[in-house]
Formats: sequence, C-alpha cells, structure tokens
Amino acid sequence: MIVDVHLRPEELDEKLREDARRGLTSAPKYLSPTWLYDAQGSALFEEITRLPEYYPTRTEFALLQQRAADFAEAARPEMLVELGSGSSEKTHVLLDALESHLHTYVPQDVSEPALRSAVARLSVEYPNLTVHGVVGDFTDSLARLPSGGKRAIAFLGGTIGNLVPSERAEFLAGTAGILRTGEWLLLGAGLVTDLDALLAAYDDAAGVTAEFDKNVLRVLNDRLDADFDPDRFVHRAVWDAENEWIEMRLEATEAMVVRIPGLDLDITFDEGEQIRTEISAKFRLSGLAQELEDAGFSVRHEWVDPAGRFVLLGASRR
Ligand code: SAH
Ligand code: AVI
Repeated sequence: MIVDVHLRPEELDEKLREDARRGLTSAPKYLSPTWLYDAQGSALFEEITRLPEYYPTRTEFALLQQRAADFAEAARPEMLVELGSGSSEKTHVLLDALESHLHTYVPQDVSEPALRSAVARLSVEYPNLTVHGVVGDFTDSLARLPSGGKRAIAFLGGTIGNLVPSERAEFLAGTAGILRTGEWLLLGAGLVTDLDALLAAYDDAAGVTAEFDKNVLRVLNDRLDADFDPDRFVHRAVWDAENEWIEMRLEATEAMVVRIPGLDLDITFDEGEQIRTEISAKFRLSGLAQELEDAGFSVRHEWVDPAGRFVLLGASRR
C-alpha cells in the first residue's frame, strides 16, 4: 500500500491556524470547508451521500455509470489522478471502465483517515492496479503528484463548487498546468436547480448535514484546544441568489466568548451571529464551460442528468 504524505499533520495544523485566525477575526466570520473533514467529518459526509434529500452523489453516480465508457474511450489514461477523492466510492465505475489502459490510480485527499481506508480497500479490490495515495491539498500541491504515462484528472462530487471563484480559477489553471496537451479532466459539478431541492439537500430532515457543519467546531476544539459548544450553534443553509451558491452557516444561539488557546485568541459572538462554513456553488453550463476554456481546456463533453441538476464535463488540455 503506497501513501505519500505531501501535507504532514503539523503543516495541516499551521494552515488551520492561519485560516481560523483570518476567518474568525473577519466580519462576517468564515472558515474554509476543508476543515469540515477530519475522520468524523469524512464519515458524516458519507452519511450525507446516502440521504434521500442529497441528490448530487446518486445523480453523479448514475451519470458515471452511463458515461464512464465514453470517457475511457476518449481519454484513454494510464494514470488516473482523483482530487478530493474521499472514500473513492463512485470511482469504481471509472476504474472498471478504464481497466484496459490504466496502470495507476492516484487518489488525493486532505483527510488522511479517509484516504488510507480507500487505498487499503482499493488495493485489495484491484490487485492489478497500482493504488498510490497522496495526502495533500488540491489548492497548492498539484505539481508534486505522481506522474508516468498518459494522465487524466477526475474532480468529482461537485467539490469544485466549494471553492470561491478566485480559488476556482487558480485551481483550474493548476490542473491545466500539470496536464499535457491531449490529457483529460473529468469534472463533476452541481447545476442551478429548483430552490426547494437545493435547500433540502443542504438541510436534511434527519439533521446529518447540521452535524457535519458543526463538526468544524469539534475540529477547532481538537486541534486548537478551543472551547466551542456545538449545542450553542444552529445550522443554516442559505441560497445566495447573486452568487448562485448555497452557504452553510453556523449561527450562535446566544452571545458568547469562545477561547482558542491554539491561536491565543478570544472570539466574541453576538446572539444570531453567523460563521460561513462552506459555499457550494451551482453552475450554469455555459459559464462553467467558459471557465474551463479560460484555464486552457477544450470542453468536449457535457453529460447532464435528465433533471438538469448535475453535469459531468469531459475536457481535454489544449
Ligand atoms: N469526491 C468524493 C468526496 C467529496 S467530499 C465524492 O464525490 O463523493 C470532498 C472531499 O474533498 C473530502 O474527502 C475532503 O476531505 C476533500 N478536501 C476538502 N478540501 C480539500 C483540499 N483542500 N485538498 C484536498 N482534499 C480536500
Ligand atoms: C463535497 N461537497 C461537494 C459537498 C457539497 O455538496 O458541497 C459537501 C456538502 N456540504 C453539505 N453537504 C454536502
């Protein structure tokens, strides 16, 4: 089992400290969604993917089942790199379709526990494939990813929508930067759809998304010794119509001061004050395709589900 660590726990903690200091001393307060994913956060996300309200995973899975063979035929990669791979559960469909040419699968994720268990499982399930995991940050360590043979990059789940527009442009340019002409990107993205479905997907009846959201407070407690009381926050899912994204927010139910010894900082909350913990942008096809073109890709396929909620884009590096 191969797992390279491009982001050691101390480096991850340093990034968390920088981000938490900047975000929690800003007005309004915010945190990067990356911090939602420790072992428990990754497990909660997996639970979300099975909720009746959370349509993105099963919609993308169905698209992959229908289109993986077309992607395999067009891209013919020998090495598949998947960024933000999480449990790599949907990737089976791709791996099966790519089997004849593929020699290496490189899942990359910031959540070391999720990555290690995916690598262990896939190494057994695909004995003829080299499974080479990388613990890393897809916003800044793409150049260090393994290379060898024709590559393709997969970025699934709609995680592209969790980046703010400037990060997104940088990310797309970064992926184009490590691909050679004729190599492919397979991108899964949520599309703008009806508001009721969107809001339900991000605020499910069983409260799993609320727990996932609050997990970021537990991460701050664990890693920075903070004393957030998750019971004094409620989860909110809000549609920002101008930016066309869902925001997950945690709202303080009362005024309080939270101690964060790891930052040597006290953070004051007013009653009702919110922390933005995630954006999840939903796209329009033409806008997303243009972003890919601007980054150096030619969009060759736009596979959309019948309800128009999710797209798989196949794009080749120009
Ligand atoms: N691709 C999977 C998982 C999506 S959840 C799917 O489609 O179901 C988002 C994943 O991105 C999580 O596993 C999380 O740990 C990972 N992630 C979040 N921020 C990251 C970052 N900056 N670098 C690498 N991985 C990141
Ligand atoms: C990983 N990412 C694409 C998910 C999303 O839908 O934005 C994370 C998530 N947030 C709330 N539910 C799921």
